[in-house]
Amino acid sequence: MKDKKQYTDETMSVHAGIEDNEHLAVVPPIYQTSTFKFNNADHGASLFSGQGDGYIYTRMGNPTIKALEDAAAQLERGHKGLACASGMAAIHTVFAAFLQQGDHVVCSEAVYGPTTTLLDSVFKKFAVEVSFVDTADTDAVKSAVKENTKILYVETPGNPTLCIADLQTAAKTAHDNNALLVVDNTFCSPILQKPLTLGADIVLHSLTKFMNGHADVVGGLIIANSEDYYKVLRKTLNLTGGVLGPQDAFLVHRGIKTLAMRMKIHCQNAQKIAEFLDQHPKVEKVIFPGLFSHPQYEIGKKQMAGPGGMISFEVKGGIEGGKVVMNNVKLCTLAVSLGGVETLIQHPASMTHAIMPREHRLEAHITDGLVRLSVGIEDADELTADLDQALNKI
Ligand SMILES: Cc1ncc(COP(=O)(O)O)c(C=O)c1O
Repeated sequence: MKDKKQYTDETMSVHAGIEDNEHLAVVPPIYQTSTFKFNNADHGASLFSGQGDGYIYTRMGNPTIKALEDAAAQLERGHKGLACASGMAAIHTVFAAFLQQGDHVVCSEAVYGPTTTLLDSVFKKFAVEVSFVDTADTDAVKSAVKENTKILYVETPGNPTLCIADLQTAAKTAHDNNALLVVDNTFCSPILQKPLTLGADIVLHSLTKFMNGHADVVGGLIIANSEDYYKVLRKTLNLTGGVLGPQDAFLVHRGIKTLAMRMKIHCQNAQKIAEFLDQHPKVEKVIFPGLFSHPQYEIGKKQMAGPGGMISFEVKGGIEGGKVVMNNVKLCTLAVSLGGVETLIQHPASMTHAIMPREHRLEAHITDGLVRLSVGIEDADELTADLDQALNKI
């Protein structure tokens, strides 16, 4: 097989991370073990010194986990990956690896709620300063960067407002100031966006979402663009210990085989549903990267291979109207999380972003009546019919 990075995403999704194994099993086996035997004392010592090839202890590496890490790194066109116990474990590992007392972080104001809180509470305890800015506004980002800025942290499209940051400009801003550009690519997956090819230094994912795609695993992954960054991250993860288990790594790797195909259907369905919602009399506003009305439509088109499967919309009647829709859907499931094959609907202000102070939430345009839809791969007409009957109950 030629270098896997030369294949299309469709082919890569199926073959990434798959290498010949001891018994030539087509599907890589699950190494459900905490530890690995050394041939002799010298072998053990060589592994610990980093000279020898092999595994020591699953917190420090495991073949099933490595297969997933390789798959994600190949799909993102990155150097190496690190699988973590959750998306939050991945985010924490990146901050813990690169920040120290007195450093400053510039972070998108519309990010997953707990990311905000992690910076604003846990890292604040260690005297790390943070500025939350609208990263869709390149001038605002430039003005927020300071001499001690170490990380520009961008989620694009942002959660849940779907605002889009121009990644090439963000990379330049970060690098001009000797800072790292870290991108949470959870909403796109590498099929729709490859931040490392646009200048980012580190990409991370909640594997829980599109990467796994089946709502049955919690996991995270970091992909570094260089051996130097990888080593710092690996050392931090080995010490902090938030690693993924082999069984979960196997399941996510299996999910990735249909990632390209799933993303195509997520995008097609979401486009149809967003256009339907956009003309619905009970809907006030629809935010979706595939609609011309999206404020960063052009940037999205330039850096994303598709609009994604996430839609945010505001219904007439504010928070009460939103509740009526959520309480009356029959096919869409009222649940948080996203990126699975099933369509999920939720209310950020009272659920995923309830942890953010209301003032901060409103500044980030996460209004009280905003409803977030993670569009699955069901039949699009059946989904619109379900939303239509629920909207008509307002
Ligand atoms: C964009 C984004 N990043 C990170 C996370 C955190 O991931 P996890 O729940 O796997 O810790 C989430 C969770 O919803 C998310 O939506």
